[in-house]
Amino acid sequence: MSKKVYNFNAGPSALPKSVLETAQKELVNFEDSGMSVMELSHRSKTYESVHQEAKQLLKKLLNIPDNYQILFLQGGASLQFSMIPMNLLKEGQKASYLMSGSWSEKAFKEAQLIGEASIAASTKNEQYKSIPSYDSSTIESTDAYVHLTSNNTIYGTQWQSFPDTKDVPLIADMSSDILSRPLDIEKFGLIYAGAQKNLGPSGVTVVIVRKDLLEQENDNIPTILRYQTHAKADSLYHTPPTFAIYMLRNVLRWVQDQGGALAIQELNEKKANLLYEAIDQSNGFYTGHATKESRSRMNVTFTLPNEDLTKAFLNEAADKGFVGLGGHRSVGGCRASIYNAVPLEACTALRTFMEEFQQTHS
Ligand SMILES: Cc1ncc(COP(=O)(O)O)c(C=O)c1O
Repeated sequence: MSKKVYNFNAGPSALPKSVLETAQKELVNFEDSGMSVMELSHRSKTYESVHQEAKQLLKKLLNIPDNYQILFLQGGASLQFSMIPMNLLKEGQKASYLMSGSWSEKAFKEAQLIGEASIAASTKNEQYKSIPSYDSSTIESTDAYVHLTSNNTIYGTQWQSFPDTKDVPLIADMSSDILSRPLDIEKFGLIYAGAQKNLGPSGVTVVIVRKDLLEQENDNIPTILRYQTHAKADSLYHTPPTFAIYMLRNVLRWVQDQGGALAIQELNEKKANLLYEAIDQSNGFYTGHATKESRSRMNVTFTLPNEDLTKAFLNEAADKGFVGLGGHRSVGGCRASIYNAVPLEACTALRTFMEEFQQTHS
């Protein structure tokens, strides 16, 4: 029996237990091949079927229309910060960035290195406590794209609905909330996400891109950094991260077994409500970082009345098996990351702990 822990890590983070058990069972002999999935050729039929199933499941679960291409890339979400402007920002065009936290800042910085990028809205002045409001009438039809971060892993805020950017492609970094709720994919030109929060282990990055954008992309960039290269080769241009894609497929099978994106969303709301209620009913003992209307259902961020209490809270929590509750090193405080695979039971246990801690320390 392994040690019992409640995993609230921000990423890499909890994976469904059944997915890990399946991987363990199949580790040395995948589908009677006599080999691990890691030892198969990425050109073999056995691996090919894993690759295709992962794609098909994602297409089905997110209701991705046929005019979108799904890519499995490497380099993390961070490489997308550069690949997006390299491919899609042309001379004479401008890209607009909606700033809601550190990840938006990183994405914006890369775009500035490559072309003309400007900030169209930001909540930096208020410590990124909320999602910026954005007046889309300022968009010019020649703009290359508008970029946003759908969930702000560090600050614990989340876009509840998305702006209408008309004919200008909307691009979203969904690294920390992809597949946590149903999506209208057609609102977006491109969506990207590192897998290591809601989709699987680190190593694979999912990109969902509208096919007409691929046809217009810049071609004066290194081959491996072009979306078209990967689209044409069905994400097999070079050796893909085969084990990560196998795990992605298994996580997607698990999402399907849970009832799909809507069922996952309902459970995520229940989980988040348990923790936000503990904050709201604490008479100020716990203070949420995010404003109520911008609260994330993936990362619940809060502070206690002072540093000593925060330290005591985190130490006691760790002793009780709660893992990963420290806030990001840039903001401090506490953060519970409650991605899809974190069970309701973990949130119930944390709620009880929060209430008990408050009783004994106030
Ligand atoms: C919203 C968001 N974007 C981007 C990243 C960076 O992802 P990667 O480490 O895959 O480059 C993270 C990582 O936590 C994130 O939360």
